[in-house]
Amino acid sequence: KSGTAGELVSFKKSFEGDEFFLAERNRHKMDFKQEVIKALHLAIGDTLTEAAITKLVETPKDDKMGDYAFPTFALAKVFHQAPQQIATTLAGKIDATPFEKVEVKGAYINFFLDKVSFANTVLTTIAKEPLHYGDQQLGSGNVPIDMSSPNIAKPMSMGHLRSTVIGNALANILTKTGYTPIKINHLGDWGTQFGKLIVAYRKWGSEEDVKRDPIHYLVQYYVRFHKEAETQPELDEEARAVFKQLEDGDPEVHQLWSWFREESLKEFKRIYKELGIEFDSYKGEAFYNDKMDAVTDALEQKGLLKESQGAEIVDLSKYDLNPALIRKSDGATLYMTRDLAAAIYRHDQYHFVQSLYVVGNEQREHFQQLKAVLKEMGYDWADDIHHIPFGLITANGKKLSTRKGNIILLEKVLKDAVVLAKKQIAEKHPDLENAEQVAHEVGVGAVVFHDLKNERLDNFDFNLEEVVRFEGETGPYVQYTNARANSILKKTDQKPVAEVALTDPAAWPVLKALGDYPNVIARALREYEPSVIAKYALRLAKAFNQYYANVKVLVDDAELPARLAMVKAVSTVLTDALHTLGVGAPAEM
Ligand code: ARG
Repeated sequence: KSGTAGELVSFKKSFEGDEFFLAERNRHKMDFKQEVIKALHLAIGDTLTEAAITKLVETPKDDKMGDYAFPTFALAKVFHQAPQQIATTLAGKIDATPFEKVEVKGAYINFFLDKVSFANTVLTTIAKEPLHYGDQQLGSGNVPIDMSSPNIAKPMSMGHLRSTVIGNALANILTKTGYTPIKINHLGDWGTQFGKLIVAYRKWGSEEDVKRDPIHYLVQYYVRFHKEAETQPELDEEARAVFKQLEDGDPEVHQLWSWFREESLKEFKRIYKELGIEFDSYKGEAFYNDKMDAVTDALEQKGLLKESQGAEIVDLSKYDLNPALIRKSDGATLYMTRDLAAAIYRHDQYHFVQSLYVVGNEQREHFQQLKAVLKEMGYDWADDIHHIPFGLITANGKKLSTRKGNIILLEKVLKDAVVLAKKQIAEKHPDLENAEQVAHEVGVGAVVFHDLKNERLDNFDFNLEEVVRFEGETGPYVQYTNARANSILKKTDQKPVAEVALTDPAAWPVLKALGDYPNVIARALREYEPSVIAKYALRLAKAFNQYYANVKVLVDDAELPARLAMVKAVSTVLTDALHTLGVGAPAEM
């Protein structure tokens, strides 16, 4: 009754490469899907591997179709039977004891989980290790993350903010799944622009101004340089000479550069502190100055360097890419060459298992070229380099542009967000003790959450009022739900007991969402997508608020301790999800 050998082979082949699925699902205890897969595998036999079954099992949108469903269409060709018939035959062979029931609906086999034992497993698991729920060993080893990486003497842009918060969330996700993230701020701290800046500073600058408001004044000098150079072309000549001095290590010029860098960095660090984000390394572009020759030498030796219009390039036509620029006609090395040196350095230094670059989508080709050149150099670890691109932030539907005056200043955004949060908290909770601290966590958290709830690659519009709202799909809504769960627990002397049976069907959507968390973390890792967690937090918060609107939690009956355990679990998981995103979770607000 089975298909031909050839059919079977190609059928099995279509599921290859799923070791990751298999590994993933065995590594956290709380996978109910696994029960379903095991039961199916026993019934089907060797025609389908567990990995293949994993891929086929669906999660129906409608509860009436069960918690998991197995479509049999794909088996028709192999078994030479109508899908409906296969469903009926298979269902007859399935051991239904671990489930509430197993039903056939058309070509589907629908599995209904045993709700009481599901509740018990989920609640006891969360209660046992509240700080580690969702943690799972999906891998190990060092993962450098190139993130934030603003340019010295320029304001940090919304794009750099995105890179910072996405990178930070990925680092937390990696930590939860067994890896060791290394957060690297690849500062833009080298380039010909420093020649211009130093010339401008010497002509029109003031030490006091730079100390007081470094980036503001450094930008002014730079802008003025460009304006004056329009009528005085000799300024450009001067700037080139000064940059040459900088590259040659002239102490006085170097001193100025180093001071600009320090002052700018101080300002960036203020923002990082607001966000609660720290870095493991601030090795920026300048760090690679003495590591560039090794790169160009290696390229030369391998015969990869080609002359093109006076510059030196690596031809990448066989990758369907534009050539990578390695050295300009004046001998100056480029952004690409520094990234080559940095990639090699990180590999030598960290022996990474993956190396991530959280950088805007507009640099997609740059990273494709980077990987291609490394491949050409014979480094097979180039395959472990992943560009994690993200979309643009717009304001009022328009692209942000410093030149056109459509700019969003990050520090101002964060400050305004905190003020707005403070206002709303004062209305809801006028006598809150640490209102200042909470307003900070809510305001800043709102901006971060808003960024992360959007899929990485989507462009999105920034509207502060919307970001800081307590209702709708916002960070404050999730934080507020968590605070509400906490306050319920404080209103009673009764203790939560996870082992008490919870049979109330109204609790089911909440329990199901709670049980989902480990899978959500795994998916966020697999897709390098923090929005998976943000969307999940919104879903759990919504489910809980719906439950709370319909059910009296604090009624003294037999299930009260179990209800309290669920309320506590909601707070545990919301808190962990927020923390993983890099957002605070105040106990009260
Ligand atoms: N400083 C660059 C910019 O603002 C981003 C650097 C990204 N990292 C890298 N290794 N290229 O565009």
